[in-house]
Amino acid sequence: MHTSTLLGAALQLCALLGIFAGAAAKIELTSRSNIIVQPQTSAQAAEITRNSGCIGLTAASWALVFYPGSEVYHYENQEFWSLTEILAPSCVFRPTNAQEVGNAVKILQTTNTKFAVRGGGHMGIAGANNINDGVLMVLSNITTFRLSQDQTVLSVGPSYKWGDVYGLLQPSGLAVQGGRLSPIGVPGLLLGGGISFYGNERGFACDDVVNYEIILADGSVQDANKSFNPDLYFALKGGSSNFGIITRFDIETFPGLKVWAGVYSISAEYITAFLEAIANYSMNAKDPKSAVIPAVVAGDPNIAAVILFYNSDTVGFPDDLLPFTNIPSISSTLAFKTLQQFSDETAVVVVPDLNDLFASGTIRVTSYQQALTGINLIYNIFFDRIPLLYSQMPKENITIIEIDWEPITSLWLKASAAKGPNALGLDPTQIYICYAQVVEWTGSQYNRIVYDWAAENEKTITDATQEAGIYDPFHYMGDSAGFQIPGFYNGYGLGNGAKLEAISRKYDPKRVFQNLMPGGFKLAHSEG
Ligand SMILES: Cc1cc2nc3c(=O)[nH]c(=O)nc-3n(C[C@H](O)[C@H](O)[C@H](O)COP(=O)(O)OP(=O)(O)OC[C@H]3O[C@@H](n4cnc5c(N)ncnc54)[C@H](O)[C@@H]3O)c2cc1C
Ligand SMILES: *[C@@H]1O[C@H](CO)[C@@H](O)[C@H](O)[C@H]1NC(C)=O
Ligand SMILES: *[C@@H]1O[C@H](CO)[C@@H](O)[C@H](O)[C@H]1NC(C)=O
Ligand SMILES: *[C@@H]1O[C@H](CO)[C@@H](O)[C@H](O)[C@H]1NC(C)=O
Ligand SMILES: *[C@@H]1O[C@H](CO)[C@@H](O)[C@H](O)[C@H]1NC(C)=O
Repeated sequence: MHTSTLLGAALQLCALLGIFAGAAAKIELTSRSNIIVQPQTSAQAAEITRNSGCIGLTAASWALVFYPGSEVYHYENQEFWSLTEILAPSCVFRPTNAQEVGNAVKILQTTNTKFAVRGGGHMGIAGANNINDGVLMVLSNITTFRLSQDQTVLSVGPSYKWGDVYGLLQPSGLAVQGGRLSPIGVPGLLLGGGISFYGNERGFACDDVVNYEIILADGSVQDANKSFNPDLYFALKGGSSNFGIITRFDIETFPGLKVWAGVYSISAEYITAFLEAIANYSMNAKDPKSAVIPAVVAGDPNIAAVILFYNSDTVGFPDDLLPFTNIPSISSTLAFKTLQQFSDETAVVVVPDLNDLFASGTIRVTSYQQALTGINLIYNIFFDRIPLLYSQMPKENITIIEIDWEPITSLWLKASAAKGPNALGLDPTQIYICYAQVVEWTGSQYNRIVYDWAAENEKTITDATQEAGIYDPFHYMGDSAGFQIPGFYNGYGLGNGAKLEAISRKYDPKRVFQNLMPGGFKLAHSEG
């Protein structure tokens, strides 16, 4: 311990002096407490330049850096939802607090090293949360979890998955807005907007964040809230990883009793009625306690399934959900349960070791008829094009193809507007219906085929919905594909893309979070 601290100090000095970056020397970490410096060839000097961030971080805090071959590197580099996210970072950096993140941000700039940041690891886009030949910063050890004295605010670190948060809050009889499936990570969901089961009551999950603790490009630890850095506070509500690294979210709590919820499945013969029910609910939802996630899953035959939710521990089958529950079901798990139990139940659809794609789009509608037209268009285009996918790759390698809808009702947008603006810029006088194409498959050699197919679907749907006068350029980040990053923020309402750009230039004039941390939904890659 003592020796390695000394070595660490020596290395830190060398790193600061830029010795390793220029010289033909190589540092090998034979174990966490034994560092060897060896002269090497010029080819290897280039490699050192690439890894100089790892060296700098090791020098500053050796115990937080893990190299290929170590158990922690191996563990952390597979803590991702999808196979599509697994890359080969030069090292893993695992800080335990905000100051360590701040120091790292400085070192990564001094050494000009590219890096990626991973929270819960559920953004299924290669390079969004991982990196080849760079530093992978994982937030698994920033584990703040603290209720305010009056229990109205939860301070939560970026290490958590939503299921754990719900479980930890249960004994206090409280809940927060977060993921509808337990394994989704806290930070990425809140930074993309956040769709919970409580949207009709409370708006987007980010609308419940009262304060962010953020590490800025200069390495400083700052708060962003309504009265302090208010422009940054606004930008973080949907603006993703463009502004800094969040080390703590302070979010509003509310009473978390049992809820009435379940998965309700419907056979192919009722799909027409099912699509009508989606339009009906989208336009007519009146009860803020209700939520739905309708989906149609491709199969032989197709099957419809809707997640139904009602925030009540005494009332089931509320009027708002009748459009769905009036249709006969082939199976149903509707019952009273805790939020944690339900998010564990929905999590069974999360299957490891697959390749996955989500791709998103949105329609904006003013009448039931328009909503139904849009839902039918999307449904028909998507399902008509499935044989084309089957003709390019073996059907047996596709484990799921489905389309999901996400009605953003007027209840939802009013609740959101009441809390103050977020970056998404949706118009509270409108009704939006977002949709997501979902494909999961085995065999990475088929990735390109699936991406191209989904991108072509998207184009076809866009053309059709534009023609019908119901297209909206908004995309929900959590359901969006890598090919949708160009131009992404142009789809946010009220010209918010330009606002986000200005705010990012103010807080990050050196463009650290655009250039050194290139992954994910970046403004710089969003000019499209
Ligand atoms: C099966 C499944 C179900 C889903 N269900 C929902 C749902 O119910 N509701 C919903 O809204 N969304 C849902 N999503 C989408 C989800 O919100 C996004 O994928 C989100 O990015 C996941 O957060 P994460 O922390 O796990 O992601 P990560 O992949 O770790 O991070 C996402 C992005 O944010 C960046 N980032 C992560 N942490 C930080 C930080 N602390 N500071 C700065 N940048 C950071 C990463 O670099 C990356 O670019 C679902 C996704 C999946 C795969
Ligand atoms: C750090 O995270 C890893 C992985 O989640 C966990 O096993 C370990 O106990 C954590 N350590 C601390 C100090 O939180
Ligand atoms: C906002 O940030 C300031 C400055 O750090 C802090 O004093 C204040 O408590 C924060 N407000 C909230 C609501 O967290
Ligand atoms: C919406 O659903 C309700 C409940 O099933 C039904 O009474 C109503 O007629 C439906 N509206 C439309 C436009 O289909
Ligand atoms: C395709 O699916 C079959 C059947 O599940 C499986 O045996 C095969 O390994 C898959 N191919 C690839 C490339 O993963």
